[in-house]
Formats: sequence, C-alpha cells, structure tokens
Amino acid sequence: MERLKLVISQEEIAKRIKELARDISKDYQGRRVVFIGILKGAFIFLADLVRAVHLEQLEIDFVRLASYGYADATSGEVKITKDVEISLKDKDVLIVEDIIDTGITLDYYLKVLPRYEPRSVKVCCLIDKPERREVEISIDYRGFYVPKGFLVGYGLDFAEKYRHLPAIYEIERVS
Ligand code: IMP
Ligand code: MG
Repeated sequence: MERLKLVISQEEIAKRIKELARDISKDYQGRRVVFIGILKGAFIFLADLVRAVHLEQLEIDFVRLASYGYADATSGEVKITKDVEISLKDKDVLIVEDIIDTGITLDYYLKVLPRYEPRSVKVCCLIDKPERREVEISIDYRGFYVPKGFLVGYGLDFAEKYRHLPAIYEIERVS
C-alpha cells in the first residue's frame, strides 16, 4: 500500500512555470529554439511550459530515454528508445526534464547531443532532487528543489501510476 503526501500544489507549480517561462522567453528572444521533452515524465511540464513562453521560432520534439526499470531503482544503463525527429543543427536546444535524481540519464543524453550540431544546449528541470546525485549536472532553469523522497504526479510515476495527478506528491509506503 502507498499513501500520498502533497509536496507541491497545482497553484505553486503554475506560479513557478510562469516565472521559468519569463526567464526562458527573455534568454531566447529572437532565437530558433527546440524544446526537447524527455518522455514520459516531462510531457505535462513541457505542455504547460511551452504555453507560457513567448517565443516565435519554437519547435517541440521528444526523446525517450530508458534508464529506469518498472519500479523505482535506477539501473545505471541508458538507452535512447525514441530519438528526436527534427533537425537540431544550429538551433538552441532546451532539454525539458521532469526530475533530476542520480543525473545519469541526462548526463548520457548531454554527451550524445553534440552529434546533432546544436548551437547551444541548456537544461530545464521541474525538480532538482540532489540526494542520490552521482553525476554533476549543470541545471540552467530549475523549477523546484526537493531534497529527497520519491515523488509522483504531474507526469511523474511510480510503476506507471499517478502520472495524471495535477499536483506533486511524495509516496509513503505503508504496510
Ligand atoms: P536519474 O537518471 O537518476 O537522474 O533519473 C532520471 C529519471 O528517473 C527521471 O527523469 C524520472 O523519470 C525518474 N525519477 C527519478 N526520481 C523520481 C521520482 O522521485 N519519482 C518519479 N520518477 C523519478
Ligand atoms: Mg524522466
């Protein structure tokens, strides 16, 4: 059995996304930007973020990086199971990630990206959760800092459950 404890409310998420969007819009004004959402977790965050930014030449694509198994433990191995489909050449890339935990997934992808010859690459994550960080990641836009815990909702899942919840909760296991 699991119990959910509210960590970040819908209102707090909405407010923070507006702030992030303001910064991103300012920094990328006049640029050709590709927002790359990391599936599946970032789909809701990306959807809200792109609707809050004001950028004329904005493109959206997705990658699916498989690093987690069915449960909540990382294997340390990363595979691209769905790659980007639009050209990144000479464009500014903003990686949109739900949560950075060990950092292994993003570290891997950041090393692969130069092969597509983007003009620049930055990272935007909704949640920075440093407790289990193994690889240092430079985060350019950070939504929230949550020191620890396993979070669900707003795209984040536990064994595919809870992604649809509009707020973010910590899972507490009760037996
Ligand atoms: P990392 O490679 O350890 O940084 O993990 C990255 C991925 O693991 C994230 O994009 C999430 O999909 C998943 N993940 C890490 N922590 C959590 C969590 O607390 N809840 C749900 N998914 C998580
Ligand atoms: Mg993810």
